[in-house]
Amino acid sequence: MELAHEDKTGRQAFYEKLDGVHTAPLWAVMSQLVTPEPRSRCVPHKWDYAGMRALLMEAGGLITAKEAERRVLVLENPGIRGLSQVTQSLYAGLQLILPGEVAPSHRHAAAALRLIIEGSGYTAVNGERIPMAPGDFILTPSWMFHDHGNLSDDPVVWLDGLDVPIVNLFDASFAEGYPGGDVQHVDRLAGDARARYGANMVPLEYEPDSKSSPVFHYPYARVREALLQIESAGMCDASHGFKLQYANPVTGGYPMPTMAAYMQLLPAGFCGQPYRSTDATVYCAREGKGTTFVGNERIEWSVGDVFVVPSWATTSHQVGERSVLFSFSDRAAQKALGVWREERLND
Ligand SMILES: [Fe+2]
Repeated sequence: MELAHEDKTGRQAFYEKLDGVHTAPLWAVMSQLVTPEPRSRCVPHKWDYAGMRALLMEAGGLITAKEAERRVLVLENPGIRGLSQVTQSLYAGLQLILPGEVAPSHRHAAAALRLIIEGSGYTAVNGERIPMAPGDFILTPSWMFHDHGNLSDDPVVWLDGLDVPIVNLFDASFAEGYPGGDVQHVDRLAGDARARYGANMVPLEYEPDSKSSPVFHYPYARVREALLQIESAGMCDASHGFKLQYANPVTGGYPMPTMAAYMQLLPAGFCGQPYRSTDATVYCAREGKGTTFVGNERIEWSVGDVFVVPSWATTSHQVGERSVLFSFSDRAAQKALGVWREERLND
């Protein structure tokens, strides 16, 4: 029913009165605020590794890792440019350390995870230097000092994933440099954390002092071996192929309180059923090549390519040859808050 002119002007005057006292009428915004299903501003997108690698090397000629503190190209979702976000809740970037360089030690409230794409450097976390090899998954939990270096003759490049937008949503960001210089004091042998917590055992009467996994380093060689053995046993998931999630060995839960991460093997000829979930997901192709359909978009990927799938976007993977995909998302945070949903859709 058309409103009388005096009603419209009466409402407008009322809204202006509300505006003057920092108030707004819910009924004017409710349909955008409480949506019947997710309406993400994020869009599907792929960052081609060959192109990104060339840009990283160009950055390497312009700024040192020490000068930059972190020489990273931030992957910005095209739907939300300017926010340093790959999804509504996550940050992603590609980081380069050239031979002989050090990225100085610092710590921050935001938690970080890394997937090594090429080369072999190291990360020091919590007094332990962790070697990096392609495909390795490495954690830097909240508020732990970390520095990176490269003692090899070749560049090292990895994908960074951080929960910066979540920490900033809560206005809970803190950060500081290491007080003792660029490189933290190393007082543990390499592999110490994996020996203590990563052999299906933990120290006697162990009580965790962190919400993150005490294992910082999940070598790809072990993950790959597990995936290949699982593949040979059959029972392929119709949507996910053979998919494992990284776990905190102490709790069995996600490796970090905000972020979940996965490695999935898609067997040769895999043609996945469509699936969607509320956790927008960042993928990085580890082996092989394939196609991922996201809504009406078609993403062709090969090794090193990074692509993002928005929340609740219908997704299916197809490969010709056996391929492996790494991925991470905010599923840990969503499940802790009780808002995560998933749906399997059949053709
Ligand atoms: Fe950092």
